[in-house]
Amino acid sequence: MKIATDSLAFALDGAARALTLVSAGTSLPAALNSTFDSLRAPPSARGAIQDISYRSMRSWGLSSELMDLLLDAPPQQERLGSLLRISLGLLADASKPYAEHTVVDQAVSACAADRELSRAKGVVNAVLRRFLRERDRLLRTANAAEEALWNYPQWWIDKLRKDWPNQWEDILQTGNARPPLTLRVNRRLGGVEEYLQLLSQQQLEATQLGPWAVRLTQPTPVSDIPGFLQGRVSVQDAAAQLAAPLMQLEPGMRVLDACAAPGGKSVHLLETEDISLVALDNDKSRLARVADNLDRLGFKAELLCGDARHKDWWDGQLFDRILADVPCTASGIVRRHPDIRWLRRPEDARALAKLGSAILDNLWSLLRPGGLMLFVTCSIWPEESELQAEAFCQRHSCVRLPAPRQLAPKSAEGDDHDGLFYALLQKPLF
Ligand SMILES: C[S@@+](CC[C@H](N)C(=O)[O-])C[C@H]1O[C@@H](n2cnc3c(N)ncnc32)[C@H](O)[C@@H]1O
Repeated sequence: MKIATDSLAFALDGAARALTLVSAGTSLPAALNSTFDSLRAPPSARGAIQDISYRSMRSWGLSSELMDLLLDAPPQQERLGSLLRISLGLLADASKPYAEHTVVDQAVSACAADRELSRAKGVVNAVLRRFLRERDRLLRTANAAEEALWNYPQWWIDKLRKDWPNQWEDILQTGNARPPLTLRVNRRLGGVEEYLQLLSQQQLEATQLGPWAVRLTQPTPVSDIPGFLQGRVSVQDAAAQLAAPLMQLEPGMRVLDACAAPGGKSVHLLETEDISLVALDNDKSRLARVADNLDRLGFKAELLCGDARHKDWWDGQLFDRILADVPCTASGIVRRHPDIRWLRRPEDARALAKLGSAILDNLWSLLRPGGLMLFVTCSIWPEESELQAEAFCQRHSCVRLPAPRQLAPKSAEGDDHDGLFYALLQKPLF
């Protein structure tokens, strides 16, 4: 039996397939793309699959605990476990995204229509109905476990409590909030006030968050954002917008963006000043996204595919400025990528810090005396950020200039940004 692509059953089935891939280690965006392809999901069905998958990642701790309480043993088929967890997460969601009876009915239909899972439709029906009957008791019992209460792995909660003793609860909460859609106004094509007026003419509510940052009250597809396709604005978090101004760019400077893809900061550098930019990344497919961004904004840069730990891509000319937005655990942007907390392992921060340190050491040798290197991460783990910056300064003689350092993620009205780290390092003249 086939299920209609515009039904909730189809979306539940798609989300269950995607989240089974995430449980096996695939990132959620890649899992969604592969699911859309395998189900031949029409564009109209993709939004619901995506929405349910992102929601479910934000309630994965609670729904896993509920499933454990409701079943004697985990289901043998991973996909059945995913379907149950997703449905339990939707039923437990206080914002009630779907009517309860619809979730139960559609989860059973999704199961019945699936040759591998159809025999379990009675179990799905019984488990979900029992949850509805015993909801208060089950939620109380489940929420006694921190993983269920906060929806993060226990090691993440413990680490955050240790690294951020005064802010760990706020940070966990912010990571579960829906991220804002923040835009950066391209100063070359007009000011922020003018752009806010344009938005209000089109009945789009927005607030200014920083010198060039505007947050849309209602998230909108980029194709519907006024001026997006013409390069009037780009999508970029308010904390990420701090990078370009910190670089103290001057006309004609030779600048390296060493871990450039997808190019959010590269184009911001080019909007800020007339510079000669080299954009390097070791991932060819991601580098193509830098090219797309440059095209949309009408900028030029030299794009190089290479490893920032080595010099084989370098032409031997020193740089005046280097932006080192190094790979990291991305623990500061979990509200945008709720799968990250479930995919990372406790040892990842240390391993990525080692990679980051090799990149920083190599880049330092490409900087002219007196030049500036901006070290950035989107992590809130000190070993990748502040401890990395301190260790770097001990290894090399460098001057640390004023910069924001570690920013905690925030989701307050006028203070809404990801958790980024900045260290501005100057190479001595002699
Ligand atoms: C945090 S992202 C950069 C985001 C980008 N600066 C922006 O604002 O859009 C890190 C990038 O580093 C790249 N990368 C990872 N290891 C690298 C290496 N050894 N050399 C160069 N790039 C690397 C990744 O492919 C990824 O695109």
